[in-house]
Amino acid sequence: MTKQFHDNILSHTALDQLFNEARTYNGWLDKPVSEQQIRAIYDLAKMGATSANMQPGRFVWVTSQDQKEKLAKLASDGNKDKIRAAPVTVIIGYDIDFHEELPWLFPHTDAKSWFEGDEEGRKEGAFRNSALQGAYLMLAARATGLDCGPMSGVDLDGLTKEFFADQPKVKADWVCSIGYGDKSTIFERSPRPDFGKFNTIV
Ligand SMILES: Cc1cc2nc3c(=O)[nH]c(=O)nc-3n(C[C@H](O)[C@H](O)[C@H](O)COP(=O)(O)O)c2cc1C
Repeated sequence: MTKQFHDNILSHTALDQLFNEARTYNGWLDKPVSEQQIRAIYDLAKMGATSANMQPGRFVWVTSQDQKEKLAKLASDGNKDKIRAAPVTVIIGYDIDFHEELPWLFPHTDAKSWFEGDEEGRKEGAFRNSALQGAYLMLAARATGLDCGPMSGVDLDGLTKEFFADQPKVKADWVCSIGYGDKSTIFERSPRPDFGKFNTIV
């Protein structure tokens, strides 16, 4: 690591909390997450970079028992009880018409015009950048002392219809439970590839 990195690197404790010891939880302690905590997660995550600051992610934070039940019914069998037990599960969707917001999100140029008439290009951008936003969200949750349980085992068409009904150009993509993880519910850590396996420096 270069000297420059050493000066600014986070503490080992912080790196462990964000990466080395951060795990995917399958069960949750009976400890609530407040709206203030939810807003704090979003306020950190929104600072992460997206192409042309397009911010295509649309997030529905499911906290009430009846909405959790609605969501659980649309999840795969293995995911239903996790959703019921989690204090909050956020649905990560993406807005294919994100370009309508670009005049204020990217005000120094007419970025909206780049995307007009190109729905395929918008889908690609929205999908890529909302996935990044979901990753920022997980890091933000972990940075604020919470744990995550990401899940794509859900009926995406069903979620889109139930939770984004009033936003016709938004599609659900995945969900992430957030709370205080029950350590007895994590699996053994799966191996991670060494640098040489999937990296090349050219
Ligand atoms: C986008 C995404 C979707 C996932 N979908 C599911 C799922 O539907 N059900 C499940 O049990 N785990 C799911 N996982 C959990 C992964 O298997 C887990 O994060 C991975 O094995 C790493 O585990 P670790 O964080 O404990 O090292 C998903 C993870 C991600 C990031």
